[in-house]
Amino acid sequence: MNAALEYLKTNQSRFIDELCDYVRFPSVSAQQEHRPDMEACARWIASQCENIGLDTAIHQTKGHPIVVASTPAKHANSKPHFLVYGHYDVQPPDPLDLWRTPPFEPRIQGRSLFGRGASDNKGQHLAHLKAVEAMLRTGTELPCHLTFVIEGEEEVGSRNLAEFLTANKSQLRCNAVVVSDTGMPAPGMPALTYALRGVAAIEVKVTGPNRDLHSGIFGGSLENPAMALCQLLASVRDKNGRIRIPGFYDDVKALTAFERRQLARLPFNAREYARFLGVPALFGEKGYTAWEQRTARPTFEINGLTSGYQGEGSKTIIPSTATAKITLRLVPNQDPERVTRLVCDYLKKACPKTVRLELKTGHGGQPYLFSPTSPLATAALAALETAFGKKPVLLREGGSIPIVTDFKRILGADTLMLGLALPDDNAHSPNEKFDLDNFAAGMRMGVHLWPALAKACSSVS
Ligand code: BES
Ligand code: MN
Repeated sequence: MNAALEYLKTNQSRFIDELCDYVRFPSVSAQQEHRPDMEACARWIASQCENIGLDTAIHQTKGHPIVVASTPAKHANSKPHFLVYGHYDVQPPDPLDLWRTPPFEPRIQGRSLFGRGASDNKGQHLAHLKAVEAMLRTGTELPCHLTFVIEGEEEVGSRNLAEFLTANKSQLRCNAVVVSDTGMPAPGMPALTYALRGVAAIEVKVTGPNRDLHSGIFGGSLENPAMALCQLLASVRDKNGRIRIPGFYDDVKALTAFERRQLARLPFNAREYARFLGVPALFGEKGYTAWEQRTARPTFEINGLTSGYQGEGSKTIIPSTATAKITLRLVPNQDPERVTRLVCDYLKKACPKTVRLELKTGHGGQPYLFSPTSPLATAALAALETAFGKKPVLLREGGSIPIVTDFKRILGADTLMLGLALPDDNAHSPNEKFDLDNFAAGMRMGVHLWPALAKACSSVS
């Protein structure tokens, strides 16, 4: 193990250069024009895998390719098998004018590497790959079989990965999945994430008159669709931040006393948090702490709201239509389909008869929860502690990685989430960055993780 750790130290600056090369690909999965960049990026990470001796393949899909790389068969035998999941696609970098340097020209400042995708998720899974490189190159025993699955469609809902898992079930059957695509509460505070929120998307459209009307000539004699939509959406939440939709909370699994104690130990300062977000004051569901609100309570969010004239100056009209893009964040054990139905039923009932309502449902993802006290979780916590030199915390996260429930459903495997992103890494925002100390700690974590997980598996069976 020492040789591998030494190798990591000696090669640190090359690894940083390689992460820069990786970030240089504008692998934006949402935009068709980047298709060739997606292909090139997949080839780049595949060649990284191949160079360290992994059996590597690029699988084409209806969308973007999936890279699969396994330790050679001599490691397979009867050893435990773990999957490492990551994604090489990134969110669109817009709005570009808010970036201090171009998103795909990586720049190092202090201990931060700036660039779109640096932390979400290129740097995080590259750390895992470098840990394996260190072990293989130094002849350090890898007590398990490993398969990297690196996809290119996470940021657009992993449209083709579940099908791939099903088609390759026997090759991918494993004892557990490891994902580093979540966060840490603060620098130097490693975390094991044992729950994620789910998500469900709905588009709401309200239509009134058959064209935009003069608001002086007609205003007052018919409903304004923008007003109707605002009132409809506003009726969803009460002043205490509770969602008023009947049945919305029915399946919510309450936090245990143990969980609430864990969450209460996390650092939080309301004043600093409000300043960090740039809001004049905080708001959230009454009766819950901010950590609980962000990670363990469901929400109804308006992501986009459009109606009427948006150009320069004013225009006196009653708009013909108004639309809203909504996503719900869901928690264990809410079911996206059931909750979507409840929300749609409510909106239909509450919408005034003076306008027409159209609802379009979109992508969804199940919430995820596994036991933070399982032998595998305990082993992962020990590896985190050794790598970071600090006791890790247990975390729920508010974001979603819908494929994680497919790992359970299709492969029967739990997922250990060992995130390396910091709260100010700006995932999905301008000036995304990755902390180079976390990059290094993530590599050390890999070296300690595989022996610990393999041992936990053998002591169970
Ligand atoms: N890495 C994030 C998810 C995440 C972030 C989990 C922080 C926990 C903490 C992932 O890339 C992401 O952004 N997922 C989307 C999924 C959606 C498009 C279905 C999300 O959460 O919005
Ligand atoms: Mn991600």
